[in-house]
Amino acid sequence: MSPGETLDPIPDGFILQPPVFHPVIPYVTTIFGGLYAGKMVVLQGVVPLHARRFQVDFQCGCSLSPPPDIAIHFNPRFHTAKPHVICNSLQGGQWQAEARWPGLDLQRGASFVILFLFENEEMKVSVNGKHFLHFRYRLPLWRVNTLGVYGDVLVKAIGFLNINPFVEGSKEYPAGHPFLLYSARLELPCSRALPRGLWPGQVIIVRGLVMQEPKDFTLSLNDAVARAPVALRVSFADRTLTWVSHGRRRKLIAAPFLFYPQRFFEVLLLCREGGLKLALNGQGLGATSVDQQVLERLRELRISGSVQLYCVHT
Ligand code: GAL
Repeated sequence: MSPGETLDPIPDGFILQPPVFHPVIPYVTTIFGGLYAGKMVVLQGVVPLHARRFQVDFQCGCSLSPPPDIAIHFNPRFHTAKPHVICNSLQGGQWQAEARWPGLDLQRGASFVILFLFENEEMKVSVNGKHFLHFRYRLPLWRVNTLGVYGDVLVKAIGFLNINPFVEGSKEYPAGHPFLLYSARLELPCSRALPRGLWPGQVIIVRGLVMQEPKDFTLSLNDAVARAPVALRVSFADRTLTWVSHGRRRKLIAAPFLFYPQRFFEVLLLCREGGLKLALNGQGLGATSVDQQVLERLRELRISGSVQLYCVHT
């Protein structure tokens, strides 16, 4: 951005908190916008060989004294024969009734992905892609504005995401697709095979960071002869987001321009009968129609341009 240039006002819902990589523990951070139903926090890490316990606290503030209320204390313990999790709340300095969850699929020395999914009445947690527990809120979710991670844990990444806005009634249990940093598989141009084309219900997720002085960023869906019947193109020169069909026809997408240098983004494409729905940073941005046969004949997702990718899921 040149000096004097101002940012367009962007509605809050479009701003995604960037992931944090390799934070030093204890790690405490503000959760931008707080917690609300539909938000997810993904924690990737490794349990050290001699770990006794660690905890992930969803806190109401971050004061040291008096200690803040903790709406949700998620506390894996490894010092007993069978690893388990204790969940609790701390209110006015007093721990409430403990809930104990045995059968924790986390081992000392092993890496993990834990997904915290916040719903209206309760938090659900999956460990390594499998549902593990649900915990009914005792303190209102809106009071939570801080995340604290303490204890014996090596954290590789913490991500803050919204659920797929197209899933009605949030029935789906979203998988915590891990964030990768400097992975060879995510170098650009990045290609993923779509052996069976795209079918209704299929979801593509691309997460990453815009580079310094970006030019453009393209996500194209190619057929077997590398033609792109449909592509999503971000142009930094004219700050537009467009659907491009067959390399020619352009359809401007009416949305705030969200791509700024060093800012995190998430593009989600949902295939539905005869088209693709688009969500950017967890907010639905309409759809484009694409013939079902064309969708079925797609064979490759190709991503190129001025971004650093953290996650590509097809
Ligand atoms: C206590 C422990 C606290 C917290 C609490 C949860 O025994 O000292 O750190 O884990 O249990 O109920």
